[in-house]
Amino acid sequence: MIHVAFYDAKPYDKPSFERYGEVRGLRFKYLETKLNEDTAELAKGCEAVCVFVNDTVNAAVIDRLQALGVRLIALRSAGYNNVDVKHAYKKIHVVHVPAYSPYAVAEHTMALLLTSVRRIHKAYNRTREFNFSLSGLTGFDFHGKTVGVIGTGKIGRIFINICRGFGMKVVAYDPFPAPDSGIEYVTPDELYARSDVISLHCPLTEDSRHMIDEKAISKMKKGAVIVNTSRGALIDAEALLKGIKERKIGAACLDVYEEEADVFFEDRSGHILDDDLLSRLISMPNVIVTSHQAFLTEEALSNIAETTVNNILSCFENGGACDNELCYRCGNIERCKKERKEKCF
Ligand code: NAI
Repeated sequence: MIHVAFYDAKPYDKPSFERYGEVRGLRFKYLETKLNEDTAELAKGCEAVCVFVNDTVNAAVIDRLQALGVRLIALRSAGYNNVDVKHAYKKIHVVHVPAYSPYAVAEHTMALLLTSVRRIHKAYNRTREFNFSLSGLTGFDFHGKTVGVIGTGKIGRIFINICRGFGMKVVAYDPFPAPDSGIEYVTPDELYARSDVISLHCPLTEDSRHMIDEKAISKMKKGAVIVNTSRGALIDAEALLKGIKERKIGAACLDVYEEEADVFFEDRSGHILDDDLLSRLISMPNVIVTSHQAFLTEEALSNIAETTVNNILSCFENGGACDNELCYRCGNIERCKKERKEKCF
């Protein structure tokens, strides 16, 4: 029996993890709290922890977990910017779920975009109160417009296909362009200058942090729509707010926010929000915020649970590799993934 401390557990997580895990010898200890230096102690007696995007897995937490005997950190997400994988090397193995439903995220991106540009959220509220006025609901055709896609991995490529279905022109930026994809790759500056809609689909790294800042916004078309379903810190939210107030940014659709950890995924409706920047963004008529919801489909939840359970079991089996391990042995996590045929250490 392998005991797993399951941090930041939500009601929608349990059915799929019970379905895949409990029958295969995993015993989950579901914890509503997030993992951080204060809550690491709750993993006592567990061989593994299972964490999500807003758990903090820094050096201090890793050292505490190791002292408690934890041997594996299993991320139930693709992104791993919240885990100090370098520090974990030779201490605790780290695994993630590289893909669970890129369609879920790409489709949510288009849902946000359509809602915003065609003012569906406003129309919904109006007609519920028998207000059938169309004033202020004018949108624009997607057909013929240019979308700039930053990051053409799994999600970016699916989103590009969706946009092409709408008859949009596509330009993209990726430091590693996909060969033979038929995608027109351009520099970030050219992408900002040409795009009516800009959608972010790259990971958060030291290079990409605040890639959308005041300078980038100044290079965009007036009225550009920005969509971020990747990671909040790709955008400097202060600069975004400034761009909106100056009428430079036409609309922003945000499924992620740099300081989301304390608010997203929780019901804060009865509380005063301390984050003035988030409050101000939400108060704007041309900003839509969803709380890191893009992944949330039945298919994705099922795939997350199945892959995470397989990852955990593979790591505790003798010999062989840990499935989907994030390894720092060669000094570059992405490169180590390709080169590694056995456990990282
Ligand atoms: P992927 O690894 O398949 O693709 C990422 C692409 O970004 C790669 O082609 C890579 O070369 C490119 N890239 C790396 N650095 C870049 C940079 N500085 N500028 C432009 N491109 C860069 O990843 P996938 O599955 O497409 O996911 C993309 C991101 O979506 C994840 O990193 C994660 O942050 C986010 N995500 C968000 C979810 C949500 O619920 N909102 C759920 C799942 C993922």
